Amino acid sequence: MPSVFIKTYGCQMNERDSEAVAAQLVAKGYSLAPSEAVADVVLLNTCSVRDMAEQKAIGKMQNIAADVRRHRPDVVLGFMGCMAQSRGQRLIDQLPDVDLVVGTQKFHRTADYLDEIFSGRREKIVETGAEQGSEGAIKEHILNGARQHAAPVTGFVSIMQGCNQYCTFCIVPYTRGEERSRTMADIVAECRELVRGGVKEITLLGQIVTSYGKRDIPARDGKSAFVQLLEAVHEIEGLERIRFTSPHPKGYGADLVEAYALLPKLCPSAHVPAQTGSDRILKAMHRGYTRARYLEIVRQLRRVQPAIGLTTDIIVGFPGETEEDFAETLSLVDEAQFDNAYLFKYSPRRDTPAATMPDQVPDALKEQRHARVLEEVNAIGLRRYAEQVGRKAEILVEGPSKKNPARLMGRTRCNKIVLFDGGPRHLGQLMVVNITRAGSFTLYGDPAG
Ligand code: 5AD
Repeated sequence: MPSVFIKTYGCQMNERDSEAVAAQLVAKGYSLAPSEAVADVVLLNTCSVRDMAEQKAIGKMQNIAADVRRHRPDVVLGFMGCMAQSRGQRLIDQLPDVDLVVGTQKFHRTADYLDEIFSGRREKIVETGAEQGSEGAIKEHILNGARQHAAPVTGFVSIMQGCNQYCTFCIVPYTRGEERSRTMADIVAECRELVRGGVKEITLLGQIVTSYGKRDIPARDGKSAFVQLLEAVHEIEGLERIRFTSPHPKGYGADLVEAYALLPKLCPSAHVPAQTGSDRILKAMHRGYTRARYLEIVRQLRRVQPAIGLTTDIIVGFPGETEEDFAETLSLVDEAQFDNAYLFKYSPRRDTPAATMPDQVPDALKEQRHARVLEEVNAIGLRRYAEQVGRKAEILVEGPSKKNPARLMGRTRCNKIVLFDGGPRHLGQLMVVNITRAGSFTLYGDPAG
């Protein structure tokens, strides 16, 4: 059987989709190749959220094609995911070496498409249609696959696909389609299976998880479908920690805030994308909340979980953003005191309303504003991480540190990375460490005996 190499760009949802495709191919007898240089099938799972992500994947495919086609003409090259969805056939027109384009509702058909190509039934395949029920198809995991040394201790579970929010800057509703949620029974069954395989921490994934089940599952006792799902997953014996991403601020009703108080397995950490601190820009973005409401959510979360780890996404240089608007973003960052923030320069995306709005901000100004918020975010982050030194923290040890494999890496419940010198016996363990030192968005720990 052929071997496959999948390279993933973009978010955790993309990572999860790639994992599901890989697991599905392994189940059909494929092996996982260690690199594109030796694989019989090379798939790039792509991101469209900013132009840079698209250019990276296209450049990569150009390099692979130039290299592979000379020596191994039979290698199958494919694009999957968001850019595959939004560009479709145009990708093959631009890069004729590409054989396969798999859209975001067709991941689960990848093995069939490869079959058709290998058997010669079809030469080129572009499949980007909508498919009913595809949201339930991202469920296979590589529990003990070729890439893992030990069974993984953290698992990611897709609970919904798509987004109906239509923020004016965002391409996701066009690449991921309408919101579609899996059934609670399916999700809980998948979580149970992961826990049976040794997983202790589960992250529930979706483009807008807080909208989970909105259309199909009625609120009960004032609890949204999403909070009902959290409660159902919380029941699973042996599961220690629950996280989720990405939520929308409008999903932080009283029920979700209260869940942080009532569900001990729900980790006190939240990634709540603010995007900007300016009410005028929030409105133009179609975000559906005000600056005051956003800061109220932050206060409510800190009231129930004072140590909660809070992170956010910020866009600078949205069309029409003035110095005053930008000052509001800086002051929001200051007031909210995020543990970390992901900062983006606005990137016009095709077919989105903001791309054709007047007063596009020049690149040089975006660059300047980016640097100014970054400075602020780093200063706050440094201080908040330094505050942890001298404290104890429970970490779940995930594996070797990426940069220095001699060290182990774990995460605190508040989602801060802790590095420490440990051994194989620590792998997969929930343990308490003393925090001895803080670096840039990293803590260093000492096993506390
Ligand atoms: N330009 C810049 N950043 C964007 N994001 C989404 N669309 C764009 C865009 N057009 C950012 C948002 C989102 C994160 C995943 O990417 O901050 O929360």
